[in-house]
Amino acid sequence: MLGEACPTELQDVGERLSVDELRSHQLSLLQATVRRAYENVPHYRAALDALGFRPDDLRELSDLRRLPFTTKKDLRDNYPFGMFAVPRTEVARVHASSGTTGRPTVVGYTQRDLDNWADLMARSIRAAGGRAGDVCHVAYGYGLFTGGLGAHYGAERLGCTVVPVSGGMTERQVDLIRDFGARIIMVTPSYFLAIVDEMERRGLDPRDTELRIGIFGAEPWTEQLRAEVEERSGIHAVDIYGLSEVMGPGVAQECVETKDGLHIWEDHFYPEIIDPVTGEVLPDGAEGELVFTTLTKEAFPVLRYRTRDLTRLLPGTARPGHRRMQKITGRTDDMMIVRGVNVFPTQIEEQILLIEGLTPHYLCILTRPHRLDELTIQVEAAPGLTDPRTAAAQLVHRVKERVGVTISVEIVTPHALERSLGKAKRIKDNR
Ligand code: DLL
Repeated sequence: MLGEACPTELQDVGERLSVDELRSHQLSLLQATVRRAYENVPHYRAALDALGFRPDDLRELSDLRRLPFTTKKDLRDNYPFGMFAVPRTEVARVHASSGTTGRPTVVGYTQRDLDNWADLMARSIRAAGGRAGDVCHVAYGYGLFTGGLGAHYGAERLGCTVVPVSGGMTERQVDLIRDFGARIIMVTPSYFLAIVDEMERRGLDPRDTELRIGIFGAEPWTEQLRAEVEERSGIHAVDIYGLSEVMGPGVAQECVETKDGLHIWEDHFYPEIIDPVTGEVLPDGAEGELVFTTLTKEAFPVLRYRTRDLTRLLPGTARPGHRRMQKITGRTDDMMIVRGVNVFPTQIEEQILLIEGLTPHYLCILTRPHRLDELTIQVEAAPGLTDPRTAAAQLVHRVKERVGVTISVEIVTPHALERSLGKAKRIKDNR
């Protein structure tokens, strides 16, 4: 079921730009960004000097290909503020990634960056079907993570009544959603499932709340999960994408009237798809690693940042000027190689959700008992599953057929797996 389109008169100017308008707009913004990075960030100056590239050499968009990539390592090496292109006193806010491996990466925003971000988030929420006056329940984490505050300021900018709950205390989330009459919820899809489970545990039908729109992102999720969530809760589930290094949530947003992938807000971000191994730029339509260059960021411009996210670029539909990215398959670092076959958790999720009696609560466990990789999937049964053995056998069979790997399946009881309050952890590598 598709939602109602956002009338053109409610859209902002940047959102309505045509492809031709965007390309010329992008070129001048890109030239300014490269100059800003070169003049203010020693890392970029050194990287461009090493190539003998001067900002004036950037004459057309395709010249971007001559510039080097920026990686997470570059950001870490310049911890904490070395990549900022403005004096620290002009930085109005910082955010940081959790840094589970190594140092966190720190990103900064001028007041204008924060304004642009709020505008883009307002645009995104509107494209998802949200409107001024809606009650918007924000259950993304607040703090150094960009999800909570990003959603918060965008919803305020749109004119919503914002409920800044953050993640956790699932019982209270349910009370607040019901008592305050939230129409929009912004949350990771995995945590939304935990909220819906809690409603059902209390004998409440999620379809009876005022909720109509879920804006789900920060982790990969599948079309199968969309179908399941929409059916169980009676909402429109739409995808939102972003990453702190590029801004935060609101880099790309799915439109509720098409639900066909996420429009990248190309008046602020220039996307490329590259071969993750060779770094070669691939044509639109080909799958590869997504790379972003920011076009308007002041405090933290990034040139050709490698996201490690795998997707493809498609022509715009609901917003014809802006290209879409297909739903993310996974991150290059989440790719499990099981006896030579590349497997992403999303591929497992797709198969799980096609089997009656299994739930989207699952964990992929990798082991290497006899010097060969083994993949075990732990998946929670739905309450009332009577024949777990058949369900397990079906999953083994389906994954073998569709994904091409042999797995073991352990069906566990409802609620046996740990719930995450934010991004779900889908892989446990015991090798
Ligand atoms: O997750 C920003 C965000 C917050 C996006 C809330 C959407 C909603 P980081 O913590 O820096 O920022 O993590 C960024 O999360 O490179 C992807 O791997 C993943 N990711 C984000 N959105 C999606 C999505 C936020 N819609 C990393 N689908 C990205 C799949 C996503 N993966």
